[in-house]
Amino acid sequence: MNARIVERIERLKREKNAIILAHNYERPEVVDIADVTGGSFGLLSAAMETSTDVIVVCSVDFMAEAAAILNPDKRVITPTRDAICPLARQLKKKELIKAKREHPDAHVLLYMNSDTETKALADCVCTAGNALKIAETMDGGSPILFGPDHGLSYYVSKRTAKEIIDIPEHGLCPVHHKITVKDLMKAKEIHPKAKVVAHPECRPEIQNYVDYLGSTSGTIEFCKNAGDAEFLVADEVGLIHMLEKEMPDKTFYPVSDMAFCKAMKKSTLPKIEEALEKDKYEVVVPREIAVAARRPIERMFELA
Ligand code: 13P
Ligand code: SF4
Repeated sequence: MNARIVERIERLKREKNAIILAHNYERPEVVDIADVTGGSFGLLSAAMETSTDVIVVCSVDFMAEAAAILNPDKRVITPTRDAICPLARQLKKKELIKAKREHPDAHVLLYMNSDTETKALADCVCTAGNALKIAETMDGGSPILFGPDHGLSYYVSKRTAKEIIDIPEHGLCPVHHKITVKDLMKAKEIHPKAKVVAHPECRPEIQNYVDYLGSTSGTIEFCKNAGDAEFLVADEVGLIHMLEKEMPDKTFYPVSDMAFCKAMKKSTLPKIEEALEKDKYEVVVPREIAVAARRPIERMFELA
């Protein structure tokens, strides 16, 4: 079954001059047919560089919208409209406007995992992979209004000299939040030799116990370069497939099987085939929002 649908997807891709981008958390069968796999920054860089006419984004809503914003002259499509990231929804435009008014001297740095209409009000955007560098380099000594993820803001505040003001106060990724210190301690007991890698969206108390903390692509690179053979992965479970694919000689254990992102599993092979066949769903961002959100996204590329 898979072989035939993969063949049809390949043919449609050639006919439409399309590229398929898939985030590291997508389903195994989706990352296996993608032209580019990666974390948020890698996928957006690929979206900027491609010369194809069509870009198929297998990821969550804000990623497809960012790819469309960076490519106003291309057709950007997403196989599903249901890939909604619950973290991104936690910062509302109204709340951001209020915080900006309350902290007029602060600069606004928003995580890529935020709604496009809030990005339109930011000074800069960052991903997990470049948050430290951007927080350090943007706008001198001003405090930073940072949102919506508290895990990432904790990571930045511990590793930079910047004053960080969380917006909202307790934003979190419900998927990474499922990973607890108890899970980690249990896993460490079973696999005492394994190195611990984690995503900065994890709870602050998890972040204090790890050997490596970073983006999904950073984690893949760290595991590749480490001399170790076993890793405990405090991250979304989909990353395990990517790690095993890249390093078949190493062993990866998820710290919690509960850390499953439903939104990142919405794209399927039949939906990708349909997307290519029918050019759907085209990602359209209202022009005014797209123009305003493009500026902080481009700023990220300048500073990263
Ligand atoms: P990365 O940028 O590390 O790939 O993370 C994206 C994400 O959604 C994590 O939940
Ligand atoms: Fe959003 Fe969390 Fe899923 Fe990443 S893992 S897309 S932050 S819900």
